Amino acid sequence: MDEHLMADFLEAVPLPTLLVDQSERIIGANAEALTLLGQQIRGRHFATILRQPQVIEAIETCLRERDPRRTRHLGNDGAQDTTFDVTCRYVRGIGAVKGGAAMLCFRDITDLEQAGQMRRDFVANVSHELRTPLTALMGFIETLRGAAREDPNARDRFLSIMEGEANRMNRLVGDLLSLNRVESEERVRPREEVDLKAQLESTLHSLQPVADGMETELVLAAPDDGVPITGDADQLRQVFTNLIENAIKYGRREGRVVVRLTCSDRDPAVRGPAARIQVTDNGPGIDPLHLPRLTERFYRADSHRSRELGGTGLGLAIVKHIVNRHRGRLRVESELGQGSTFTVILPR
Ligand SMILES: Nc1ncnc2c1ncn2[C@@H]1O[C@H](COP(=O)(O)OP(=O)(O)OP(=O)(O)O)[C@@H](O)[C@H]1O
Ligand SMILES: [Mg+2]
Repeated sequence: MDEHLMADFLEAVPLPTLLVDQSERIIGANAEALTLLGQQIRGRHFATILRQPQVIEAIETCLRERDPRRTRHLGNDGAQDTTFDVTCRYVRGIGAVKGGAAMLCFRDITDLEQAGQMRRDFVANVSHELRTPLTALMGFIETLRGAAREDPNARDRFLSIMEGEANRMNRLVGDLLSLNRVESEERVRPREEVDLKAQLESTLHSLQPVADGMETELVLAAPDDGVPITGDADQLRQVFTNLIENAIKYGRREGRVVVRLTCSDRDPAVRGPAARIQVTDNGPGIDPLHLPRLTERFYRADSHRSRELGGTGLGLAIVKHIVNRHRGRLRVESELGQGSTFTVILPR
């Protein structure tokens, strides 16, 4: 094939593509391939550029057997590890010697690989979270059948622990379903009329027993009038419940949780009219190390304390999706020893 024709042909392929002929040298590469593998690769022996054994093996076999091969090329683009699916096909009638070359096409499958990894991590996390209470339940069933069979005191105590563990599993499954629903609805704009002030008042009212348990004072600072927005009432309630409950649970005993509702005609965070809901506690705060990952599923800053308090670690993941659905923002500020402030900014 004419050299210009071959170069034009390679440039027309929308993926990084190169040709390796029977002399084992790279005889052609398009601009995408140069960006991926370096500008000076033409004319070089392919093994000095593509050093990974599985890639070398695929090219060698393809050149020898003249059969298609497929493999993976692993790399790093400076920001993250990358994975490319490499197809290696034999093209007859081109190249310097023995008239043929292997054509390599690189397809970036990094996102696909990451999605697969996320799915595997998620399944592993869910299984682990379900297994912990399940193991406890099985242990107590065995004890109730054996050693504690005739001991009514032990039986009552064990049954109440078992109830707690079963509740925990129930909560976990409920949260998982909720997360699933919120994620699948994320692109649907909510359409209800919700009064944020009334919603916060009623959330605080229902969390009063939790606050009493911690001897924590709940304070609402809100404008005199209601603050109506377009949103999803149930979901917003879920947001406020989790943030206020977290502030109580992870705040300090005999602490103080302040919920502040404010409105503005132009909030810089959403570049327009918005309402801000700030939930502030005076607890131990959160190490800055944890802040960026706090809204990941199952992520806990203090996993011992969270589990002890029955938390599933899904609350803030759900909050984040609901806030996204409302085209809002979630911000977390915290200083160790000084407490934390979670802010939700909702466009009006
Ligand atoms: N106000 C807070 N102060 C200190 N730590 C907090 C606060 N809010 C959240 N955290 C930390 O963030 C973690 C994640 O919170 P999230 O609400 O997602 O999960 P959870 O409360 O453990 O479980 P769930 O909300 O499902 O019951 C918590 O486990 C806790 O370690
Ligand atoms: Mg929570």
